Amino acid sequence: KPPNPESMVQHIASQTRSAELPSVTFLFGTQTGTAQDYASQMASQARAFGFKNVKLLDMDDWEVLNAGKYETKKNGLQDLVVIITATYNGQPPDHAEKFDKFISAKADEEGHQELLHKLKYAVFGVGNKNWRTYQAFPRKVSSSFLDFGAEQLFLTGEGNADKDIDADFNEWCAHFWMTALSQYGLTIPENQSMVPSASASVEKEPVKINFISPTDDSKWELGQSNCNGEYNAQLLLNKELQQPGSGRSTRHIELDITSLASSSNNGQLYEAGDHLEVMPENDPKTVQAVALNFGWVLDSVFEVDPESLKDVSPRSLAACIRGPCTVKNALTYYADLTSPPSRTMLSIFAEQLSKTSPETADAFRQLIMPDSVDYPVFIEKNRTLLELQKNYPQVNQLELGQFLSAVGVMQPRRYSIASSPLLHPNRAHLTVGVVHDVLKDGREFYGLTSSYLARALGKNVRASLKSSKSSFGLPSDPSVPIIMIAAGTGLSPFRGFIQERAYQKQEGKDVGKSVLFFGCRRHDQDFIYADELNGYADSGVLSSLHVAFSRQNEPIKYVQHQLLANATEVWRLVEGSNASIYVCGAGTMSRDVRRTFANMAKSFGKASTDEEAETYIQKLLDEGRYNEDVWG
Ligand code: 2AM
Repeated sequence: KPPNPESMVQHIASQTRSAELPSVTFLFGTQTGTAQDYASQMASQARAFGFKNVKLLDMDDWEVLNAGKYETKKNGLQDLVVIITATYNGQPPDHAEKFDKFISAKADEEGHQELLHKLKYAVFGVGNKNWRTYQAFPRKVSSSFLDFGAEQLFLTGEGNADKDIDADFNEWCAHFWMTALSQYGLTIPENQSMVPSASASVEKEPVKINFISPTDDSKWELGQSNCNGEYNAQLLLNKELQQPGSGRSTRHIELDITSLASSSNNGQLYEAGDHLEVMPENDPKTVQAVALNFGWVLDSVFEVDPESLKDVSPRSLAACIRGPCTVKNALTYYADLTSPPSRTMLSIFAEQLSKTSPETADAFRQLIMPDSVDYPVFIEKNRTLLELQKNYPQVNQLELGQFLSAVGVMQPRRYSIASSPLLHPNRAHLTVGVVHDVLKDGREFYGLTSSYLARALGKNVRASLKSSKSSFGLPSDPSVPIIMIAAGTGLSPFRGFIQERAYQKQEGKDVGKSVLFFGCRRHDQDFIYADELNGYADSGVLSSLHVAFSRQNEPIKYVQHQLLANATEVWRLVEGSNASIYVCGAGTMSRDVRRTFANMAKSFGKASTDEEAETYIQKLLDEGRYNEDVWG
């Protein structure tokens, strides 16, 4: 168990405070708001600890990018930069692309070792360990900074969203401050803590809201405008892909994307392999139940007082809703009602309930203590806000302003586009597995975005196109052979690839071999798009189609077994014809498939040890010939 940072406060408190302090910049590279939230918590802490010149910026807004280099201070303390960033599929997040280009371009320049000479820095990476690219970008940033002559003030931290990312961050942050405060001779003020979730930053007034009397009917739709820059895409087609009897649901969905901004730069709206980011809506039944529990009128219109927004978390609802909004729309379009209660939310609820329900407040406070092991058990029992309301009815006393200060903003979800722009220039097809968990105790949960899409026929869906940044695109030369490996809905980008190649073939282009390995449970249940795929195999668009059924009495179970059974064909394409390999599906499948390729490298004499086999795969990855789009 790590040392309890609180017990080390004395250490630092005994030191004297230096008159001079550096300027501190917190840079965040955020995909879902987590990194931004952490950076913002640290910036508040820095101010509370006495740092005067504190900035909080998107990574792309860092002034050094424009200046071209860091101006090393001749006298006095060097600046301090703390970078908190996510990775998206091994790539930088959206507002860190300029930053990434900068560090990549400078790495080869002469004199780059002086670029950030003596600048102090620290990095915390957020990610999910299930992804192969876990921490790829934060690690790149950290090693580039060292290479550019910056000095690391504290070890790079890693937060894993697959487990308890807030706990990882709290621990890293507390240890970071221990080092930083002692370095700058600062003492910790009395009501503050080095652990952000336990710090006094939550002892804030909730945002002020004013209810407004609506004067005309148009007001009822207020608050529907987007807050994340996404636009509407009409959902035109929505059909079931699984056969009756499978007990599960996978939807084929088509959206009109004419009004979305393009994510590609070749005149098309998107490219095969790109993603569509979809902003869900809460189910009307959940919205109604939450509002009833709180005793709120769904049609009432309110406005958040902008003055009171200064210190709320950017992940909170209040920061997102601008202008007048109905309670119903706030709960439907913005509030994250389905994620497990976050530590931030519980700490704010605890603060707000401390007078009226001190026992509940204490229970919540205990949960978020840095060394508490009860939080994971708690969120198993309280998976959503509705469950929290049921199990802790005292929560229902909270007023709208308090709720808006504490509850997080609903997050979008990315889906691989299942069509090619050559065939469907104005439509994006999606293949959506409807998430439905039934727990041992009988409680059932539906995935927020997948179940929203499943019921959204005819609706305008808030969506935006996201480029896969060439990390998962077809080779620019159509004559290069491709090997596609998918399980379940991992098939979706390959449907786009195959459509693209069918179109090119029809145009008379020289199109290379296209081989598909697909894994599902049974041919009569979840062999999605079976007719289409068989048709492509018959017409020669697919040069071969290998399907692995995992729950049918066949000797071959999974895609990797099919790969092995067809190893000679596969290897001939990889080694003999420079084929590109693509893998899409769950993380476990992608790891097993990689191992299978490593085994093939050994079996066909390209490697004699496991290390050599790994190096062989790494080379394919570096050359962009082995591509993964994996999740979970
Ligand atoms: P299973 O559910 O029968 O175990 C899509 O989910 C398909 O991927 C299913 O047939 C599933 O099989 C299979 N699958 C599950 N784990 C896998 C793994 N590690 N490698 C390859 N396929 C896997």
